[in-house]
Amino acid sequence: MKPIIMAGGTGSRLWPKSRAAFPKQFLSLTSEHSMLQDTLTRLNGLAHDAPVFVCNEAHRFIVAEQLLQAGIHHDGILLEPVGRNTAPAIALAALHATQKGEDPILLVLAADHLIENIPAFYQAISQAEQLARQNKLVTFGIVPTCAHTGYGYIRRGDAIQSSDGFAVAEFVEKPNLNTAEQYLASGAYLWNSGMFMFKASRYLQELEQHAPEIVDICRQAIASESQDLDFVRVDSDIFAACPSDSIDYAVMEKTDAAAVVPMDAGWSDVGSWSSLWEVQKKDAKGNVVRGDAILENVHNSYVNAEQRLIALVGIDNVVVVETKDAILVAHKDQVQDIKKVVDKLKAKK
Ligand code: GDD
Ligand code: MG
Repeated sequence: MKPIIMAGGTGSRLWPKSRAAFPKQFLSLTSEHSMLQDTLTRLNGLAHDAPVFVCNEAHRFIVAEQLLQAGIHHDGILLEPVGRNTAPAIALAALHATQKGEDPILLVLAADHLIENIPAFYQAISQAEQLARQNKLVTFGIVPTCAHTGYGYIRRGDAIQSSDGFAVAEFVEKPNLNTAEQYLASGAYLWNSGMFMFKASRYLQELEQHAPEIVDICRQAIASESQDLDFVRVDSDIFAACPSDSIDYAVMEKTDAAAVVPMDAGWSDVGSWSSLWEVQKKDAKGNVVRGDAILENVHNSYVNAEQRLIALVGIDNVVVVETKDAILVAHKDQVQDIKKVVDKLKAKK
Protein backbone atom coordinates (compact mmCIF):
# COMPACT_ATOMS: atom_id res chain seq x y z
CA MET A 1 0.00 0.00 0.00
CA LYS A 2 1.38 3.35 -1.08
CA PRO A 3 0.07 6.59 0.46
CA ILE A 4 -0.52 9.44 -1.97
CA ILE A 5 -0.91 12.75 -0.22
CA MET A 6 -2.88 15.47 -1.99
CA ALA A 7 -1.57 18.78 -0.72
CA GLY A 8 -2.48 21.27 -3.42
CA GLY A 9 -5.65 22.86 -2.03
CA THR A 10 -6.16 26.49 -1.10
CA GLY A 11 -8.13 26.20 2.18
CA SER A 12 -9.73 29.58 1.55
CA ARG A 13 -12.45 29.21 4.22
CA LEU A 14 -9.79 29.39 6.91
CA TRP A 15 -8.69 32.88 5.86
CA PRO A 16 -6.92 34.91 7.28
CA LYS A 17 -4.66 32.17 8.69
CA SER A 18 -4.75 30.12 5.51
CA ARG A 19 -3.24 32.09 2.62
CA ALA A 20 -2.45 31.33 -1.01
CA ALA A 21 1.25 31.33 -0.12
CA PHE A 22 0.75 29.19 2.99
CA PRO A 23 -2.54 27.27 2.89
CA LYS A 24 -4.35 25.28 5.55
CA GLN A 25 -2.56 21.94 5.13
CA PHE A 26 0.73 23.53 6.20
CA LEU A 27 -0.69 25.16 9.35
CA SER A 28 -0.74 23.75 12.89
CA LEU A 29 -4.45 24.01 13.61
CA THR A 30 -5.34 20.92 15.63
CA SER A 31 -1.98 19.94 17.16
CA GLU A 32 1.52 21.37 17.44
CA HIS A 33 2.36 19.78 14.07
CA SER A 34 1.08 20.82 10.69
CA MET A 35 -1.91 19.01 9.20
CA LEU A 36 0.38 17.61 6.50
CA GLN A 37 2.77 16.21 9.10
CA ASP A 38 -0.07 14.69 11.13
CA THR A 39 -1.47 13.04 7.98
CA LEU A 40 1.74 11.04 7.70
CA THR A 41 2.63 10.39 11.31
CA ARG A 42 -0.92 9.07 11.78
CA LEU A 43 0.12 6.16 9.52
CA ASN A 44 3.14 5.22 11.67
CA GLY A 45 1.49 2.08 13.07
CA LEU A 46 0.72 0.69 9.60
CA ALA A 47 3.02 -1.12 7.21
CA HIS A 48 3.18 0.98 4.05
CA ASP A 49 5.49 1.94 1.18
CA ALA A 50 7.16 5.35 1.04
CA PRO A 51 4.50 7.98 0.34
CA VAL A 52 4.31 10.31 -2.66
CA PHE A 53 3.24 13.93 -2.22
CA VAL A 54 1.48 15.97 -4.89
CA CYS A 55 1.49 19.73 -4.45
CA ASN A 56 1.78 23.01 -6.26
CA GLU A 57 5.24 24.06 -7.42
CA ALA A 58 4.90 27.25 -5.34
CA HIS A 59 4.74 25.22 -2.09
CA ARG A 60 7.65 22.86 -2.74
CA PHE A 61 9.98 24.23 -0.11
CA ILE A 62 7.28 24.30 2.56
CA VAL A 63 6.50 20.62 1.89
CA ALA A 64 10.16 19.58 1.75
CA GLU A 65 10.94 21.41 4.98
CA GLN A 66 7.94 20.04 6.86
CA LEU A 67 8.76 16.46 5.80
CA LEU A 68 12.37 16.87 6.82
CA GLN A 69 11.37 18.37 10.16
CA ALA A 70 9.03 15.46 10.91
CA GLY A 71 11.56 12.86 9.72
CA ILE A 72 9.21 11.61 7.00
CA HIS A 73 10.90 9.38 4.43
CA HIS A 74 9.22 9.67 1.03
CA ASP A 75 9.30 8.63 -2.59
CA GLY A 76 9.15 12.05 -4.19
CA ILE A 77 7.27 15.33 -4.14
CA LEU A 78 5.38 15.65 -7.42
CA LEU A 79 5.06 19.29 -8.44
CA GLU A 80 2.10 20.65 -10.35
CA PRO A 81 3.01 23.79 -12.29
CA VAL A 82 -0.66 24.84 -11.98
CA GLY A 83 -3.53 23.40 -9.94
CA ARG A 84 -5.90 21.24 -12.02
CA ASN A 85 -7.80 19.70 -9.10
CA THR A 86 -7.61 16.17 -7.74
CA ALA A 87 -8.39 13.94 -10.76
CA PRO A 88 -5.19 15.00 -12.59
CA ALA A 89 -3.17 15.20 -9.34
CA ILE A 90 -3.99 11.56 -8.54
CA ALA A 91 -3.42 10.57 -12.18
CA LEU A 92 0.13 11.97 -12.03
CA ALA A 93 0.79 10.05 -8.82
CA ALA A 94 -0.67 6.82 -10.25
CA LEU A 95 1.43 7.16 -13.41
CA HIS A 96 4.53 7.92 -11.36
CA ALA A 97 3.88 4.87 -9.16
CA THR A 98 3.42 2.50 -12.11
CA GLN A 99 6.46 3.64 -14.09
CA LYS A 100 8.69 0.77 -13.06
CA GLY A 101 6.09 -1.82 -13.97
CA GLU A 102 4.70 -1.94 -10.44
CA ASP A 103 1.01 -1.61 -9.63
CA PRO A 104 0.69 -0.62 -5.97
CA ILE A 105 -2.54 -0.13 -4.09
CA LEU A 106 -2.80 3.60 -3.49
CA LEU A 107 -4.15 5.06 -0.27
CA VAL A 108 -5.09 8.56 -1.41
CA LEU A 109 -5.30 10.99 1.50
CA ALA A 110 -6.11 14.67 1.80
CA ALA A 111 -3.35 16.54 3.62
CA ASP A 112 -5.78 18.59 5.68
CA HIS A 113 -8.05 16.23 7.62
CA LEU A 114 -8.26 15.30 11.27
CA ILE A 115 -8.79 11.70 12.45
CA GLU A 116 -9.01 11.09 16.16
CA ASN A 117 -9.58 7.34 16.49
CA ILE A 118 -6.51 5.73 14.95
CA PRO A 119 -7.47 2.04 15.58
CA ALA A 120 -10.84 2.62 13.84
CA PHE A 121 -9.00 4.33 10.97
CA TYR A 122 -6.61 1.37 10.60
CA GLN A 123 -9.50 -1.08 10.68
CA ALA A 124 -11.24 0.80 7.84
CA ILE A 125 -7.98 0.88 5.84
CA SER A 126 -7.51 -2.86 6.21
CA GLN A 127 -11.07 -3.50 4.99
CA ALA A 128 -10.59 -1.09 2.10
CA GLU A 129 -7.31 -2.73 1.11
CA GLN A 130 -9.05 -6.08 0.66
CA LEU A 131 -11.65 -4.47 -1.60
CA ALA A 132 -9.02 -2.56 -3.57
CA ARG A 133 -7.34 -5.91 -4.27
CA GLN A 134 -10.66 -7.01 -5.78
CA ASN A 135 -10.41 -4.08 -8.21
CA LYS A 136 -12.81 -1.78 -6.37
CA LEU A 137 -12.43 1.97 -6.07
CA VAL A 138 -12.96 2.33 -2.37
CA THR A 139 -14.19 5.37 -0.47
CA PHE A 140 -14.48 5.82 3.28
CA GLY A 141 -18.01 6.79 4.34
CA ILE A 142 -18.93 9.01 7.28
CA VAL A 143 -22.38 9.05 8.90
CA PRO A 144 -23.69 12.56 8.09
CA THR A 145 -24.66 14.91 10.90
CA CYS A 146 -26.12 17.78 8.82
CA ALA A 147 -27.12 18.64 5.26
CA HIS A 148 -23.65 19.95 4.36
CA THR A 149 -23.42 20.92 0.68
CA GLY A 150 -19.63 20.79 0.46
CA TYR A 151 -19.39 17.00 0.55
CA GLY A 152 -19.97 14.02 -1.69
CA TYR A 153 -22.96 11.82 -0.73
CA ILE A 154 -22.86 8.04 -1.14
CA ARG A 155 -25.94 5.83 -1.21
CA ARG A 156 -25.12 2.40 0.16
CA GLY A 157 -25.90 -0.56 -2.09
CA ASP A 158 -25.57 -4.26 -1.28
CA ALA A 159 -23.18 -5.44 1.41
CA ILE A 160 -20.01 -6.99 -0.03
CA GLN A 161 -19.51 -10.53 1.26
CA SER A 162 -16.91 -11.16 3.97
CA SER A 163 -16.05 -7.48 4.36
CA ASP A 164 -17.41 -4.38 6.13
CA GLY A 165 -17.91 -2.72 2.74
CA PHE A 166 -20.90 -1.96 0.54
CA ALA A 167 -21.32 -1.42 -3.17
CA VAL A 168 -21.96 2.23 -4.01
CA ALA A 169 -25.47 2.58 -5.44
CA GLU A 170 -25.04 6.29 -6.13
CA PHE A 171 -22.37 8.94 -5.61
CA VAL A 172 -23.43 12.58 -5.75
CA GLU A 173 -20.78 15.26 -5.34
CA LYS A 174 -21.79 18.50 -3.57
CA PRO A 175 -25.60 18.30 -3.96
CA ASN A 176 -27.71 21.44 -3.46
CA LEU A 177 -29.21 22.08 -0.02
CA ASN A 178 -32.62 20.70 -0.86
CA THR A 179 -31.15 17.42 -2.12
CA ALA A 180 -28.70 17.19 0.79
CA GLU A 181 -31.64 17.58 3.21
CA GLN A 182 -33.51 14.73 1.51
CA TYR A 183 -30.42 12.52 1.61
CA LEU A 184 -29.92 13.25 5.30
CA ALA A 185 -33.56 12.52 6.13
CA SER A 186 -33.51 9.24 4.16
CA GLY A 187 -30.76 7.80 6.37
CA ALA A 188 -29.47 5.92 3.30
CA TYR A 189 -26.46 8.13 2.56
CA LEU A 190 -22.95 8.54 3.89
CA TRP A 191 -20.60 11.46 3.34
CA ASN A 192 -17.55 10.84 1.21
CA SER A 193 -14.57 11.47 3.47
CA GLY A 194 -12.39 12.41 0.48
CA MET A 195 -9.94 9.53 1.06
CA PHE A 196 -9.72 6.70 -1.47
CA MET A 197 -8.08 3.36 -2.05
CA PHE A 198 -7.55 1.54 -5.35
CA LYS A 199 -4.91 -0.10 -7.50
CA ALA A 200 -3.03 2.55 -9.47
CA SER A 201 -3.87 0.78 -12.74
CA ARG A 202 -7.57 0.56 -11.84
CA TYR A 203 -7.83 4.30 -11.30
CA LEU A 204 -6.11 5.03 -14.60
CA GLN A 205 -8.40 2.59 -16.38
CA GLU A 206 -11.51 4.32 -14.99
CA LEU A 207 -10.13 7.73 -15.84
CA GLU A 208 -9.43 6.53 -19.38
CA GLN A 209 -13.06 5.57 -19.67
CA HIS A 210 -14.68 8.63 -18.08
CA ALA A 211 -12.14 11.45 -18.63
CA PRO A 212 -9.73 10.30 -21.36
CA GLU A 213 -8.32 13.77 -21.97
CA ILE A 214 -7.07 14.01 -18.38
CA VAL A 215 -5.21 10.72 -18.46
CA ASP A 216 -3.86 11.41 -21.93
CA ILE A 217 -2.42 14.80 -20.95
CA CYS A 218 -1.06 13.50 -17.64
CA ARG A 219 0.66 10.66 -19.49
CA GLN A 220 2.33 13.13 -21.84
CA ALA A 221 3.21 15.49 -18.99
CA ILE A 222 4.86 12.77 -16.93
CA ALA A 223 6.71 11.23 -19.89
CA SER A 224 9.21 14.06 -19.60
CA GLU A 225 9.35 13.84 -15.80
CA SER A 226 12.61 15.04 -14.28
CA GLN A 227 13.78 14.61 -10.73
CA ASP A 228 15.93 17.12 -8.90
CA LEU A 229 16.61 16.23 -5.28
CA ASP A 230 13.19 15.48 -3.75
CA PHE A 231 11.19 17.15 -6.50
CA VAL A 232 9.59 15.48 -9.49
CA ARG A 233 8.66 17.92 -12.25
CA VAL A 234 6.34 17.39 -15.21
CA ASP A 235 6.08 19.32 -18.47
CA SER A 236 4.37 22.56 -17.51
CA ASP A 237 2.97 23.55 -20.92
CA ILE A 238 1.43 20.13 -21.41
CA PHE A 239 -0.02 19.93 -17.88
CA ALA A 240 -1.44 23.47 -18.13
CA ALA A 241 -3.68 22.22 -20.96
CA CYS A 242 -5.26 19.57 -18.70
CA PRO A 243 -8.96 20.00 -17.88
CA SER A 244 -9.55 20.86 -14.21
CA ASP A 245 -11.75 18.33 -12.42
CA SER A 246 -11.99 16.51 -9.11
CA ILE A 247 -11.84 12.72 -8.72
CA ASP A 248 -15.37 12.95 -7.32
CA TYR A 249 -16.95 14.37 -10.49
CA ALA A 250 -14.57 12.80 -13.01
CA VAL A 251 -14.57 9.23 -11.65
CA MET A 252 -16.54 8.50 -8.49
CA GLU A 253 -19.89 9.78 -9.79
CA LYS A 254 -19.51 7.72 -12.95
CA THR A 255 -17.80 4.44 -12.13
CA ASP A 256 -19.64 1.16 -11.55
CA ALA A 257 -16.78 -0.22 -9.48
CA ALA A 258 -17.07 1.97 -6.38
CA ALA A 259 -17.32 0.51 -2.89
CA VAL A 260 -17.68 2.23 0.46
CA VAL A 261 -16.29 1.24 3.84
CA PRO A 262 -18.14 3.04 6.63
CA MET A 263 -15.73 4.68 9.07
CA ASP A 264 -16.41 6.02 12.55
CA ALA A 265 -13.00 7.40 13.42
CA GLY A 266 -13.62 10.96 14.64
CA TRP A 267 -13.06 12.28 11.11
CA SER A 268 -13.28 15.98 10.32
CA ASP A 269 -12.05 17.87 7.28
CA VAL A 270 -11.71 20.98 9.45
CA GLY A 271 -13.20 22.83 6.52
CA SER A 272 -14.13 26.03 8.35
CA TRP A 273 -13.57 27.97 11.56
CA SER A 274 -16.78 26.53 13.01
CA SER A 275 -15.66 22.94 12.38
CA LEU A 276 -12.34 23.78 14.00
CA TRP A 277 -14.28 25.11 17.00
CA GLU A 278 -16.33 21.89 17.06
CA VAL A 279 -13.34 19.54 17.23
CA GLN A 280 -11.35 21.48 19.82
CA LYS A 281 -11.46 21.44 23.58
CA LYS A 282 -13.70 24.19 24.96
CA ASP A 283 -13.69 26.02 28.27
CA ALA A 284 -16.71 26.05 30.62
CA LYS A 285 -18.44 28.69 28.49
CA GLY A 286 -17.92 26.78 25.27
CA ASN A 287 -15.11 29.01 24.01
CA VAL A 288 -11.93 27.97 22.23
CA VAL A 289 -9.19 30.52 22.80
CA ARG A 290 -5.73 30.54 21.21
CA GLY A 291 -3.32 33.37 22.02
CA ASP A 292 -3.81 36.46 24.14
CA ALA A 293 -7.49 37.26 24.77
CA ILE A 294 -9.82 38.57 27.47
CA LEU A 295 -13.41 37.38 27.29
CA GLU A 296 -16.23 38.86 29.37
CA ASN A 297 -19.65 37.22 29.13
CA VAL A 298 -18.77 35.46 25.86
CA HIS A 299 -20.05 32.01 24.87
CA ASN A 300 -19.52 29.35 22.19
CA SER A 301 -16.95 31.40 20.34
CA TYR A 302 -13.62 30.77 18.61
CA VAL A 303 -10.86 33.32 19.28
CA ASN A 304 -7.38 33.17 17.77
CA ALA A 305 -4.93 36.00 18.48
CA GLU A 306 -1.55 35.93 16.77
CA GLN A 307 0.01 39.33 17.42
CA ARG A 308 -2.35 41.49 19.47
CA LEU A 309 -4.65 41.19 22.45
CA ILE A 310 -8.27 40.46 21.59
CA ALA A 311 -10.98 41.63 24.02
CA LEU A 312 -14.60 40.55 23.61
CA VAL A 313 -17.56 41.59 25.75
CA GLY A 314 -21.13 40.33 25.82
CA ILE A 315 -21.18 38.40 22.58
CA ASP A 316 -21.89 34.79 21.59
CA ASN A 317 -21.22 32.51 18.62
CA VAL A 318 -18.51 34.59 17.01
CA VAL A 319 -15.25 33.79 15.30
CA VAL A 320 -12.45 36.32 15.74
CA VAL A 321 -9.12 35.61 14.09
CA GLU A 322 -6.33 38.16 14.24
CA THR A 323 -3.14 37.98 12.17
CA LYS A 324 -0.35 40.41 11.32
CA ASP A 325 -2.20 41.99 8.41
CA ALA A 326 -5.87 41.08 8.71
CA ILE A 327 -8.66 40.62 11.25
CA LEU A 328 -11.70 38.42 10.71
CA VAL A 329 -14.88 38.87 12.74
CA ALA A 330 -17.71 36.53 11.71
CA HIS A 331 -20.87 34.92 12.98
CA LYS A 332 -20.03 31.30 13.73
CA ASP A 333 -22.98 30.10 11.61
CA GLN A 334 -21.87 32.00 8.51
CA VAL A 335 -18.22 31.12 8.23
CA GLN A 336 -18.80 29.26 4.93
CA ASP A 337 -19.07 32.70 3.31
CA ILE A 338 -15.48 33.61 4.16
CA LYS A 339 -14.75 32.16 0.72
CA LYS A 340 -16.60 35.18 -0.70
CA VAL A 341 -14.27 37.53 1.17
CA VAL A 342 -11.29 35.73 -0.35
CA ASP A 343 -12.86 35.99 -3.82
CA LYS A 344 -13.31 39.75 -3.32
CA LEU A 345 -9.71 40.06 -2.16
CA LYS A 346 -8.52 38.24 -5.28
CA ALA A 347 -10.64 40.53 -7.49
CA LYS A 348 -9.03 43.58 -5.84
CA LYS A 349 -5.51 42.47 -6.77
N1 GDD B 1 -2.12 18.16 -5.45
C1 GDD B 1 -3.30 18.74 -5.47
N2 GDD B 1 -3.67 19.46 -6.56
N3 GDD B 1 -4.10 18.62 -4.40
C2 GDD B 1 -5.29 19.24 -4.46
C3 GDD B 1 -5.74 19.99 -5.56
C4 GDD B 1 -4.85 20.10 -6.68
O1 GDD B 1 -5.13 20.75 -7.71
N4 GDD B 1 -6.97 20.48 -5.29
C5 GDD B 1 -7.28 20.03 -4.05
N5 GDD B 1 -6.26 19.29 -3.54
C6 GDD B 1 -6.19 18.60 -2.25
C7 GDD B 1 -6.59 19.47 -1.08
O2 GDD B 1 -5.45 20.03 -0.47
C8 GDD B 1 -7.26 18.47 -0.17
O3 GDD B 1 -6.28 17.83 0.62
C9 GDD B 1 -7.87 17.44 -1.12
O4 GDD B 1 -7.12 17.55 -2.32
C10 GDD B 1 -9.37 17.61 -1.40
O5 GDD B 1 -9.57 18.84 -2.04
P1 GDD B 1 -10.66 19.89 -1.51
O6 GDD B 1 -10.62 21.08 -2.42
O7 GDD B 1 -10.48 20.11 -0.05
O8 GDD B 1 -12.00 19.08 -1.81
P2 GDD B 1 -13.40 19.31 -1.12
O9 GDD B 1 -13.25 19.44 0.35
O10 GDD B 1 -14.12 20.40 -1.83
O11 GDD B 1 -14.19 17.94 -1.44
C11 GDD B 1 -13.60 16.66 -1.27
O12 GDD B 1 -13.49 16.31 0.11
C12 GDD B 1 -14.78 16.18 0.81
C13 GDD B 1 -14.48 15.78 2.25
O13 GDD B 1 -13.67 16.70 2.87
C14 GDD B 1 -14.49 15.65 -2.02
O14 GDD B 1 -13.80 14.42 -2.11
C15 GDD B 1 -15.85 15.48 -1.34
O15 GDD B 1 -16.59 14.45 -1.99
C16 GDD B 1 -15.64 15.11 0.12
O16 GDD B 1 -16.90 14.96 0.79
MG1 MG C 1 -11.63 19.74 1.63
